[in-house]
Parts: sequence; structure tokens; C-alpha cells
Amino acid sequence: MNLPNMKDAKIRSKKEVKILYDDYNTNNLLDLGKDKKYLILTYGCQMNVHDSEYISGIMEDIGYTKTDEMNEADVIIVNTCAIRENAHNKAEGMLGRIKHLKEEKENIIVIFCGCMAQEEGLVSKIKDYKWIDIICGTHNYHKIPEYLYEYMNSGKMCEVYSIEGNVIENIPVKRDSKYSAWVNIQYGCDKFCTYCIVPYTRGKQRSRKSEDIVDEVRELYNNGYQEVTLLGQNVNAYGKDFQDDYDFADLLGEVSSTGIPRIRFVTSHPWDFTDKMIDVISRCDNIMPYIHLPIQSGSDRILKLMGRKYTTKEYLEIVRKLRERIPNVSITTDIIVGFPGETEDDFKQTLDIVNKVKYDLAYTFIFSPREGTPASMMEDKTSMEEKKKRLARLNELINKYALESNKKMKDKVYDVLILGESDKDDKYMGYTDNMKLVNVKCDKEYVGKIIPVKITGVKTWSLDGEVNDK
Ligand code: SAH
Ligand code: SF4
Ligand code: F3S
Repeated sequence: MNLPNMKDAKIRSKKEVKILYDDYNTNNLLDLGKDKKYLILTYGCQMNVHDSEYISGIMEDIGYTKTDEMNEADVIIVNTCAIRENAHNKAEGMLGRIKHLKEEKENIIVIFCGCMAQEEGLVSKIKDYKWIDIICGTHNYHKIPEYLYEYMNSGKMCEVYSIEGNVIENIPVKRDSKYSAWVNIQYGCDKFCTYCIVPYTRGKQRSRKSEDIVDEVRELYNNGYQEVTLLGQNVNAYGKDFQDDYDFADLLGEVSSTGIPRIRFVTSHPWDFTDKMIDVISRCDNIMPYIHLPIQSGSDRILKLMGRKYTTKEYLEIVRKLRERIPNVSITTDIIVGFPGETEDDFKQTLDIVNKVKYDLAYTFIFSPREGTPASMMEDKTSMEEKKKRLARLNELINKYALESNKKMKDKVYDVLILGESDKDDKYMGYTDNMKLVNVKCDKEYVGKIIPVKITGVKTWSLDGEVNDK
């Protein structure tokens, strides 16, 4: 048994990260899942969604087939998120259901993985739950075949590493979409914002080699993909862990020259946002005009306490340049309300910055203390009731600007990549270049294609449109 611990997870060793091209192997376990099914439940960010695509790839590599029916599954994998208390609660609610199922069907194998599995306090509790069979962390899910085999032969397994692993390049992947793909460019995070658990659950920043990223994008394009989204906790810190000065702007330039029609990237940190990046984005037509740029707070005093290392003035300067150099750019953000010590005045400064930037969309959260992070130990006098009121006030403003920005698009024509059926009847859904969700009246044959769409209706969260064949 190998349990996680926060002390080790905080260490940023100077040890060189190895890029391994043969570390994933099935050890002749290719028939392990013959005639058996797996179900995977995913919580959390795009990184977890993409990890689940890798875990699915691994499960199918060893013979399992996918199911969405819990009652049919021989293996249930819960890929968890630890970012806020409510992410925890969702996963724990699901675990309750799985526990009941396991009481009826004791042969099911339950695998608990993802960011919650990296948490010391939580794992010390669940390691004794009889109905969780395998616990593995974010650094070693490529060993799931081995863990399954060991579990089948000798029972419960718990293997979590707190010191990050290497970069492993040969894990099979089963992607959810045939047209739009996630591509990791870096793992981990070294920013240590004081509220955030990610640097502990995902370890030191490790960038993939640019050649490997570009090869992956080229192959995706050759296989018909129209869009890639480059993934990392701080995409624009890409390469800071290299010996040379190759950076994210260089990578964007190279990915652009593969010719793939659409390139996106999340998440950008204002700290590392360079003019060189803005140059590349404005120069390359296949880099989409969409920037997710988390501000977190509009108060410089709170930003400092958060350890974000930029001021609102610097942030607004980036926004100004983006709007000046990239026509039609959408800017979205993340905001935390009720950080310890946030006063009404600090909060008003957050409203002020929203009024200045007029975001296309924002994800807003109430501060959630995460065990072991510096902010969880800061004095916090504001009541939850007050925090909820602040969140409601903020959301009202965010929604106003979201609708306003959508209204500007009415009657205009945008390129939309149609991704699949919409849950609105008879329609298909897709995204404009500036990342607006559109429900389009069109034929099925357009799925997977980029087509001109005229915007006919606008709502706060989505647009309606029809094919513009003029
Ligand atoms: N790497 C990205 C964000 C990762 S987490 C970045 O730096 O922007 C996604 C969002 O969750 C964060 O931007 C933040 O707004 C929110 N978040 C992270 N930790 C939180 C916490 N402890 N409480 C509330 N919100 C949190
Ligand atoms: Fe968390 Fe900050 Fe890293 Fe984003 S940059 S993952 S908020 S520590
Ligand atoms: Fe959650 Fe881990 Fe992502 S904590 S937000 S799944 S990096």
C-alpha cells in the first residue's frame, strides 16, 4: 500500500523529468477484460475528462468494452475531482450508490482514481472501505492493467504516488469525439495559488516535448479531426521547465503550421501572458479568437493573498491588447467570491472589473477551503449567507454581459464546427470560432464539418442559427 501525503506533494524536485515511450505495457494481460464491461464516471476539469479518455483506451486495450449502464458493468471507475467541496460531495454521493450495488453484486471491481485519490486525509479514510477495490492516483493510472491483475489474485490495492511521475507517451487513448480532440501539452502546476489543491494533486509542471505534441496534432488532422484544444493548468507557462527558451508562443506557431483548421487552448494564466503570444494568435487564422483568462478577484489586495502575482492593472492591459489585436475575440474568466478576508469593498472591485471587461462568460465559485492549502488556514469572518448573496449579485452581472455579447452576434454569419446532435429537438450543436454554443437547424451530413451559420436567436448561454447558404 502506497498512500498519498501532502508534504511530499509540495516538493518541487530538480530531478530531470524523463519522457518515456515504452512505460505503458499490458504485461500480456490483453485478455483480462474479455467478455467484460467497464463503466467510467468522470468529474472535474477537461484534464480529467481527457485522462478518462486514456483510461478508456487502456481498458479497451486489455479487452474490456464500454457500457453506460451501471448494472452491466464488471468494473466501475470513478475519476474524481478535488477542486471544491461540492466536487467531493458529488463523487461521494455516487460512491454511496456504488456501495449499494456492490452489496448486491459483489464481483464488481470498483476503481477510485483522479485528484481525490491524491488527497491524504480522504485516502486515509477510504482505504478501509471494503467496497473500494483499487485506489490509484493521477500519476500512475497507466498501471491499471497491473493493478486489476494483482487485485484479482491477491485483493485490495492502493497505490498513490505523491511525487510526480514522468511523462509517458505511449498510453492508448479512446477519444469521445471524432472531430474535436484534447491534447495535453503539460502536466502539473507550479503556481501554488494559495487556495488551490491542483499543485498537490497533479504535481510539478512537466511539459511534453513539442515534437510529440505536433506529431499528435498532425495525426489527428490526418484522421479527420477539425479541432484540437491544447490542455494544461497554465498553458502559457509551457516550456518554462525546459533548458532552452522555447515557449508557448513557439509551440502555438508550430501547431498552427500543421494546418488543422481550429486550435484552442486552456487555461491561460495572466502571469505568463506575453506579447509574443498575442502576436502568434493574431497572425495565425487557425488559432481561434477565444481566451479563457481567469481573474479570480478584482481586488489587488485579495489577488496578493491568493498568490496570483498580477495586478488588475496588468490584467486589464492584457485584455486591452487582446481586444485591439484580435478582432471578434471572446474573453471568459473564473472568479472566486468569499476568499478569506474579502470585504464588501473588495467584492465591489470584482464587480468593477466585470463591468470593465464585459466578459463573454464566467465561471463563478464560492471559496472552498482545501485541506493543506495556505488559504484554508486564513481567518475567514464572512458568513456563508453573505457569500451566497455576493455570488448571486456577481452572477446577475455576468449573465447581463453574456447576453449582451451574444446579442451583438444576431443576424451575423459565423463559422461553426458542428459536433453532434443537440438536446434541443431536431437540431445539431456546435461552436463558433469565438466559442459560442449554437444550436443549428441543419442536416446530419454537416456533423464534423465547419459551416457558415447565420445567428437567428440569442439567449444568455447559447445561440440559435441556420445554415447560411448564400
Ligand atoms: N489552472 C487554472 C484553473 C484551475 S481550477 C487557472 O489557474 O486558472 C479552475 C477554477 O476553480 C479556478 O480558476 C478557480 O476559480 C476555481 N478554484 C480553484 N480552487 C478553488 C477553491 N479552493 N475554492 C473555490 N474555487 C476554486
Ligand atoms: Fe491552481 Fe493556480 Fe495552478 Fe491554476 S495556476 S491550477 S488556480 S495553483
Ligand atoms: Fe479537479 Fe483535478 Fe481538474 S482537482 S479541476 S480534476 S486538476
